[in-house]
Amino acid sequence: MKVNAAMTTQTIGLTTTKAPFIESAQAAGQVFIHQPYELYSEENQETWRQLYARILPRWQRYAHPKFMEGVGNLALPGDRIPRLDDINKFLSPLSGFVSKAVAGYVPAYVFFDCLRTRNFPTTITIRDSATLDYLPEPDIFHDVAGHVPMHTDRQFSDVLVRFGQVARFAAQRAQEMRGDRHEQLQRLESNIRAMARFFWFTVEFGLMRFGSELKVYGSGLLSSYSEIAHCIDSDLVQRHPLQLEWVVNQYFEIDHFQELLFIVDSFDHLFSLVDQLELWLGQGRLDNVSRGEPVINETDLNSFLLADLG
Ligand SMILES: [Fe+2]
Repeated sequence: MKVNAAMTTQTIGLTTTKAPFIESAQAAGQVFIHQPYELYSEENQETWRQLYARILPRWQRYAHPKFMEGVGNLALPGDRIPRLDDINKFLSPLSGFVSKAVAGYVPAYVFFDCLRTRNFPTTITIRDSATLDYLPEPDIFHDVAGHVPMHTDRQFSDVLVRFGQVARFAAQRAQEMRGDRHEQLQRLESNIRAMARFFWFTVEFGLMRFGSELKVYGSGLLSSYSEIAHCIDSDLVQRHPLQLEWVVNQYFEIDHFQELLFIVDSFDHLFSLVDQLELWLGQGRLDNVSRGEPVINETDLNSFLLADLG
């Protein structure tokens, strides 16, 4: 029996949506966990090797040079799933950022506030080998191979921290709002939607000018073998200079290639846009952005309303 149980664990491993370890952590209400490295199955390891080997040439062609520098600085392994402890040994001296294992969904405020304190909530499961191309949930390939190399760059990491500060300001503002309760909630919901859209079209799906070329710095693109090429090469993708008023009002859907992407000029430009986002938040310009995706759920709203801002 013991052998069978061990075999089952070894086969299931830490596969996205199928990992008993994650299910028990979620059932126990845990958000932050450790990375039980021994639970990765051989199939999990093979999935990482395949994902890494096929995307590497595309990174070299399409990714922003700062991303490639990050891959090198992290000594990101291609032959095995990285241990977060090893990643953090390289990462934290460079930018102060640390990858912290999470059991899954992190409420919006908690996520942004982690960025403010230079912690990155990191998924530790890996996609099923049958769905190499697409999965709606984040996995360790998206989070560690897609996001973390950019976190080695001081300027980019400062953008994330600044973003966390904007979220904190939004929480303060929401907690101080007086008057009609329904209207307060609608304003907060709109603020969170605006921030989520900005995050989506920059950190997740952003393009940046690099000389006469466009390069990819958004992690949703950097972790997708097909979309990283499609987003640059396809005539079907609209690419526009980022305009804040457009981005905060633009819905997005996560289950298909993006038809609309936004370009920033530089990391400095990106940082200044987050400043502007905060300014607009304070002026009430994000209190009634257009409806539509993403849907902000009650947990997200409460994470802002109940945040300890002491
Ligand atoms: Fe992401």
